[in-house]
Amino acid sequence: MSKKINKIGVLTSGGDAPGMNAAIRAVVRACSYYHLECVGVYRGYQGLIEGDFEKLDARSVRNVINRGGTFLKSTRSLEFKTKEGRKKAHDKLTEAGVDALVVIGGDGTFTGGVFFSDEFNFPIVGIPATIDNDINGTDYTLGYDTALNTVVEAIDKIRDTASSHNRLFLVEVMGRDAGDIALNSGIGAGAEEILIPEEDAGVERMLESLKKSKAAGKTSSIIVVAEGEKSGKNIFQLAEFIHEQDESYDIRVSVLGHIQRGGSPSCFDRVLASKLGVGAVEAIMDGKTKVMIGLHHQNVVRVPLETAIKGEPKVDKELRRVADITSV
Ligand code: F6P
Repeated sequence: MSKKINKIGVLTSGGDAPGMNAAIRAVVRACSYYHLECVGVYRGYQGLIEGDFEKLDARSVRNVINRGGTFLKSTRSLEFKTKEGRKKAHDKLTEAGVDALVVIGGDGTFTGGVFFSDEFNFPIVGIPATIDNDINGTDYTLGYDTALNTVVEAIDKIRDTASSHNRLFLVEVMGRDAGDIALNSGIGAGAEEILIPEEDAGVERMLESLKKSKAAGKTSSIIVVAEGEKSGKNIFQLAEFIHEQDESYDIRVSVLGHIQRGGSPSCFDRVLASKLGVGAVEAIMDGKTKVMIGLHHQNVVRVPLETAIKGEPKVDKELRRVADITSV
């Protein structure tokens, strides 16, 4: 029989993502609703090791639903990757009387959570939060929708210059090894071509698309390049490569960078965060551990953390088809 839960800890770890604050809020408010104590852990797993805790109640999370970043702060802790680090973290949790932990983050966060839960038989529930949308078993991760809107807004602005000066713009977006941000924002912003890590034929297809665009009378073009795409060239080398093939192009490069991680979360991310936060507390109350709370076909689901971190690179073929048709 699982242990009775009285106190739940919550932390954010890895790269920050818009919606993390809304998720913390939902966890804290769900604890309050179910008469459980809640403890915030600052600076992710590093704060867990150092016992950097603070009691949170329903009023502690006022005015945070609309804020980007994470008020609990975040780190990528190297010490937590060691057994000694995890032992210190367990000691601190025991001292503070914390019975279970909600970890909000991406695959690194979940991997740490699995190790910790296995070693100390400690209940851990994950909430997927990363702009990359690269977690298995959930249709969306927190922050992804907001990042997409940020990227589309930025490319809309770039398009003004591209079109005024008849230029070709290469725009680099984040996503680590996943092309979700690139593919979706590329369609949303009307890009002529999209390079993603999951496809090898990217560069050849890009040159082909550019030729076709020219032949079709287009005077400016936008190519969205995922940071992890596999041409072996960085975005500036790609620009040079295109120029070597056709010197008539007036090419500019724009690397969007960390603006994609910031800003007020979209309504979608706030609602998702609220559903997942409540779902996480309810999963702990049901005696679940080592599960991620995700969203699949509009339903809140519980997915084993091991499954969540086993994502295989995959391309949404329908999205690729739509991108090809709409960029003619
Ligand atoms: O995982 C989120 C992410 O923003 C990736 O898209 C990107 O590759 C990485 O984090 C950047 O990490 P950092 O902020 O540590 O440079």
